[in-house]
Amino acid sequence: MITLTADNRTIQAREGSSVLSACLSAGIYIPHLCWLEADAPADAPAACRLCLVEIEGFREPVAACVVTVENGMTVHTGTETVRRLQKTALKLLLSVHRVDCKHCPANKACALQNIAKFLGTGLGCKPFERVLKEPDVDSRHPVLDYYPNRCVLCGICVRVCRQRHQRPLLSFARRGFETVVGCFDADPVAAADCMSCRACLESCPTGALVQRTVVKG
Ligand code: SF4
Ligand code: SF4
Ligand code: FES
Repeated sequence: MITLTADNRTIQAREGSSVLSACLSAGIYIPHLCWLEADAPADAPAACRLCLVEIEGFREPVAACVVTVENGMTVHTGTETVRRLQKTALKLLLSVHRVDCKHCPANKACALQNIAKFLGTGLGCKPFERVLKEPDVDSRHPVLDYYPNRCVLCGICVRVCRQRHQRPLLSFARRGFETVVGCFDADPVAAADCMSCRACLESCPTGALVQRTVVKG
């Protein structure tokens, strides 16, 4: 086991685990959206930039999901700098988000709502221009509807789909602000897999994926 200090507490972590995993296991919450529990530090995509922490000896704040724990490490998860950067990361996500919680299936169970609450900003903060995608819903997937303006591009759905299926249906498409999750295979056999799988839908931290009640023929 590795022994480190996080927010003035001595904690222990499994060798090879990430600072994020170590802190969460010790009950120290760090906002995160794109990390999966099984992620080793080298595999974490570090896409959401919400899990920033300061580590003594590091020149700049780092994403806690990609740093491997070391003996004697000292981590600060709630400094002024960390909170400022986390709020900026959240605001960037919200600048491409249609906040309409009342009509969203994730309402009250949404990771984005929880993080906004934790950071004390709420979901109304929008210092950057809001840029929404068209169309508001993509129904190319055989059994799911995808709402790009609720998607935080954490990539979790793409990764779990890849982990479970030899022929994954989900993948990222386009680039930059235009990036979306796309479905590139409307094969009915694969669709049958989706009906019994639902892994993407269940692991999505927001309301971006919704099961369609009427399946396309
Ligand atoms: S994804 Fe979350 S923040 Fe966005 S509209 Fe749905 S409940 Fe609200
Ligand atoms: S659809 Fe959900 S799980 Fe997939 S990238 Fe968007 S927010 Fe993440
Ligand atoms: S959880 Fe670390 S960058 Fe998203």
